[in-house]
Amino acid sequence: MARGRPNGVWVLKTTDRAPPKPQPFSVYNPAMNQPTLADIESLARAAGKILRDGYDQEHDIQFKGVIDLVTEIDRQSEAFLLDEISRRWPESRVLAEESGESGDGRLRWYVDPLDGTVNYAHGVPIFCVSIACAWDGTTRLAAVYDPMRDEMFSAERGRGSRLNGRPLRVSRAAELQQSLLVTGFPYDTWTAKVNNLEYFGRFARQAQGVRRLGSAALDLCYVAAARFDGYWELTLKPWDVAAGGLIAEEAGALVTDLQGGADYLSPPQSVLAAGRALHEKMLDVLRAP
Ligand code: IPD
Ligand code: CA
Ligand code: CA
Repeated sequence: MARGRPNGVWVLKTTDRAPPKPQPFSVYNPAMNQPTLADIESLARAAGKILRDGYDQEHDIQFKGVIDLVTEIDRQSEAFLLDEISRRWPESRVLAEESGESGDGRLRWYVDPLDGTVNYAHGVPIFCVSIACAWDGTTRLAAVYDPMRDEMFSAERGRGSRLNGRPLRVSRAAELQQSLLVTGFPYDTWTAKVNNLEYFGRFARQAQGVRRLGSAALDLCYVAAARFDGYWELTLKPWDVAAGGLIAEEAGALVTDLQGGADYLSPPQSVLAAGRALHEKMLDVLRAP
């Protein structure tokens, strides 16, 4: 159980910890060469080792924009993942942050080889590897691995989400005043008109607290784990949220775009994730004139 502090008194915050109902089927089809959840967990763990081994060293940093950067470790992690995916599942079309689209086939992958790269470059130990796999138009498998805490968040559509094998359930917080929220800001915050500062101000005045971890994938997993009650962010990319989105959904969160629409993987790519009751309250705040 997570802790909450309504009315100035420390109490346990109720979370619905009942594990998700077992489903009668698995997404694994032995007739097809498609990955299992264990496969993508092991990919994420191996890429996470690359991040951990490279952590706290001097990095070769290149700037993709004024503040958006990439290190040699992002590239090593991505090269490892692309090689493994194309070797083991040749029918794969991969969208990866540093190299864009590659390959072709019925398996659709979303790869963020290092989510939280600004933290990483500064030696802040909050970052992860994020991998999702979709087929037939639906995200089916997700793994988000935090190598510094050895935390493996994962989910299989219809079969719940887990942290190191333990079932996850989203918080049941219903009031903003008792909710700890998390958000992020786009790399063009200095210049963009839609920059989240207005929304940040609104939530900062109504929620118990608002955090900014610097990793969208972990933000979503922390909502799944009821560490945070809600998350919103604008101007993301599919590799930031495909895996964390499924993990949050499978933990019982409602995950939408900022208008409440179901397709949070398409441009303009905004995400709102929370338990159902809080999601509605957060939408009200976002929609207020
Ligand atoms: C970023 C992080 C950050 C979010 C940014 C993302 P990166 O990804 O997820 O939390 O606010 O919008 O671009 O660049 O560290 O992979
Ligand atoms: Ca990212
Ligand atoms: Ca990244």
